[in-house]
Amino acid sequence: MTSPIARHRTALHRSELSRPIKLALDDHLIKPGIELLDYGCGHGGDVRQLQGLGFCCTGWDPVHRPDGARREVDVVNIGYVVNVIEDELERADTLRSAWSCARDVLIVAARLAAEAKAIPSQEFADGYVTRCGTFQKLYGQQELRDWIERVLEARAVTAGPGVFYVFRDEAKRQSFLFSRYQRRPAAPRVDRSEAQYAANRELLDGLVAFLAARGRVPDDAELGIAAEQLHGVFGSVRRAVAVVTRALGTEQWKSAQDDRTQDLLVYLALARFDGRPKFSQLPRDLKLDIRAFFTSYQAACDLADATLLSVGNVRALDPVFRDAPVGKLMPTALYVHMSALPLLPPPLRIYEGCARGYCGAIDDANLVKLHRDEPKVSYLVYPQFDEDPHPSLLRSIVVPLQTFRLDVRDYSCSPNPPILHHKEEFVGAEYAQRKKFQRLSEQEERFGLYAAPERIGTRNGWEQVLRDRGMRLRGHRVVRVTQDAV
Ligand SMILES: C[S@@+](CC[C@H](N)C(=O)[O-])C[C@H]1O[C@@H](n2cnc3c(N)ncnc32)[C@H](O)[C@@H]1O
Repeated sequence: MTSPIARHRTALHRSELSRPIKLALDDHLIKPGIELLDYGCGHGGDVRQLQGLGFCCTGWDPVHRPDGARREVDVVNIGYVVNVIEDELERADTLRSAWSCARDVLIVAARLAAEAKAIPSQEFADGYVTRCGTFQKLYGQQELRDWIERVLEARAVTAGPGVFYVFRDEAKRQSFLFSRYQRRPAAPRVDRSEAQYAANRELLDGLVAFLAARGRVPDDAELGIAAEQLHGVFGSVRRAVAVVTRALGTEQWKSAQDDRTQDLLVYLALARFDGRPKFSQLPRDLKLDIRAFFTSYQAACDLADATLLSVGNVRALDPVFRDAPVGKLMPTALYVHMSALPLLPPPLRIYEGCARGYCGAIDDANLVKLHRDEPKVSYLVYPQFDEDPHPSLLRSIVVPLQTFRLDVRDYSCSPNPPILHHKEEFVGAEYAQRKKFQRLSEQEERFGLYAAPERIGTRNGWEQVLRDRGMRLRGHRVVRVTQDAV
């Protein structure tokens, strides 16, 4: 009997890159020089767009591109394919077959029940048949992860809702996990010099950048060819470091050390959920970091466990919330811009990391709400955060840390969505537009626009307050509505 399911009809004509491809670009898994295969590429929208961006990418699809080559490449994407296959054995075989083509990483994406607009009514096999006669298996986030891990007998890393990465090499997986909790430090400003430093500045620049980023002495392999040159000029890398520290002081390395120690702590705490690696499984650079910043790997893990344990009781975190150096603190939550998350102390980063470990990065989310009254993290999407002086909430994804039942709330059709004020409070001191946001808030304060806080939390109330006061906004400035402007 032929299957009543028309799988090929599921293929979309994509005008934008798909979510898994966007995530993999953001995560630098798709980068210049690698080869990518889009397995089950449908009409090939992702393939065309990646090729247009200069990436080396091919696609294969049993119906739409049967002549495409299915061969081993660095990265394979199997996006929204497994969920259209109604036969469970064939679904698993398809996943294994895509994995067999992946030298480094497999990207797997499938539709989630939490994101489906409406659940189709006609049940079929372990999913549903849609009105167009196609099949959809709608997964839960954990269900999808468990299935991938069972079928491939390999660990999956959560990339986003319904999107997972599977790495071939354990050390590469650990490097990737650590990179998520690692901030990107700026190279320090060089404002003092001494003769030896000045004379060899070009040669020392790489060493300075390393010290600023890692807060420790590099080993020769990490410096490559520069190590030999440093040996030639200074006798050893350590002596070169001594010259640099005499010239520039140690303050900047100290702060890199603190940052890196905290990043490692967050990484090790969250690695608990994922099966913490043995020391021997860590990439070489992390081993060197741990040796430099902790007395032993065991000591680092013990400290990470203690911090993780402290996060279990959200109410006990209250002093940490109150001392948070960034974010808008409200009675029941701390709101922080995504870019400022690394500035939070480790317990709050770990708290957020527990949610992210489960649901991955949320498309376009720019604010995180860390709840203080119950163990819950929400990701908020304000599409025009930088441009709109008072951006409207488009979507929120709530992750309760006890049940892990994702709750997606959509405000796109809301006639009166919540809006933001005082945007400067959500971002870190280095955020490029912070001063502009602050000037606007000061001006709004001066004009008395915050006099009735209960009116201004939503779009309509705020616009009414502006009208009542005869004001309007021009970019990030308040102006009076003059006759001709009306
Ligand atoms: C929802 S589309 C996704 C297409 C594309 N990956 C994207 O995200 O735009 C599902 C695709 O899976 C393909 N497909 C169905 N069974 C497959 C199998 N066993 N192996 C590979 N692809 C399959 C279908 O032909 C269809 O093009």
